[in-house]
Amino acid sequence: MTAHRHLLDIADLGGRAGIDEVMRLTDSFVEVSERPIPRVPALRGKTLAWLFYEDSTRTRLSFETAAKRLSADTMNFSVSSSSVKKGESLRDTAKTIEAMGIDAIVVRHASAGAPHRIARWVDASVVNAGDGWHEHPTQALLDCYTIRQHRGDLAGQRIAIVGDIKHSRVARSDVWAFTAMGAEVVLVAPPTLLPPSLDGWPVKVSHRIDEVLPTVDVVYLLRMQRERMTEALVPSLREYTATFGLTNQRVELLRDDAMVMHPGPMNRGVEIAAEVADLPRSVILDQVRNGVAVRMAVLYLLLGAGTDRVPEVPPPTPEPLAPTLELPRA
Ligand code: NCD
Repeated sequence: MTAHRHLLDIADLGGRAGIDEVMRLTDSFVEVSERPIPRVPALRGKTLAWLFYEDSTRTRLSFETAAKRLSADTMNFSVSSSSVKKGESLRDTAKTIEAMGIDAIVVRHASAGAPHRIARWVDASVVNAGDGWHEHPTQALLDCYTIRQHRGDLAGQRIAIVGDIKHSRVARSDVWAFTAMGAEVVLVAPPTLLPPSLDGWPVKVSHRIDEVLPTVDVVYLLRMQRERMTEALVPSLREYTATFGLTNQRVELLRDDAMVMHPGPMNRGVEIAAEVADLPRSVILDQVRNGVAVRMAVLYLLLGAGTDRVPEVPPPTPEPLAPTLELPRA
């Protein structure tokens, strides 16, 4: 097993070989997840802390389930009810949690680069669970796994990523992961929802979804990240749906075997028609299901080295017995 200390972005895995290693480990954890008792002692004795500065449903629950199935202990840290509200700095919070004796911190933060900074301050492993617009590596790994599960391999797949690319950390991680695995990526969005520069991005770009849909193996839809928009980037959501949404009419343009993906949370009726999300070609729930096994693989990769042997605890030294009292005879 290759030694990794942190997972901050897809590049940390060092390209196809590293991603393949996560895929193979995930295969074993999918098998574990299907057992009647889906639990292995792989991370017994390890403690993980969640540091979520942004809302999350699936990512946090998925990491929690993954940790439980590996028998790790977890420390819940809810930013809204913690000293962060009293002005504690990110560094002090991270150092405080570390002082309690933890092996890994899973971080979600609104600022790009926050997990990288924590990784410089603490000795524990750091996993990026989404930082601002930057990256969301475990999402990209579960996306790769889901495509591989249905297609055998990502190499040669043509994947359209559609929507609010500009504000999407999922899109950034997916672009690096999909292309490292040999897939071809085309970004489909209005110019206002693309990053100002795509220099160095190994992608094609189109502003016409109807031309792209018949040519792809996978269409990956993104939510409009309105919480990150400071100005109106589309005239209206209704107009966005009309020009870029995967509507009931537009889905007919896809080839019969093309898959529909979405990282969640979905805005049904905006980027994806309510019915389209439930078609057999939609693998959105497979993505969620695979997320647990992928996160088990990532946590095991970072913390699992040498844990196949549980450390032996020396037997307790017997306490000297209290001296027997000489009771006076009656
Ligand atoms: C995404 C995120 O938070 O980046 N969700 C997720 O983790 N599955 C995408 C989104 O919020 O739209």
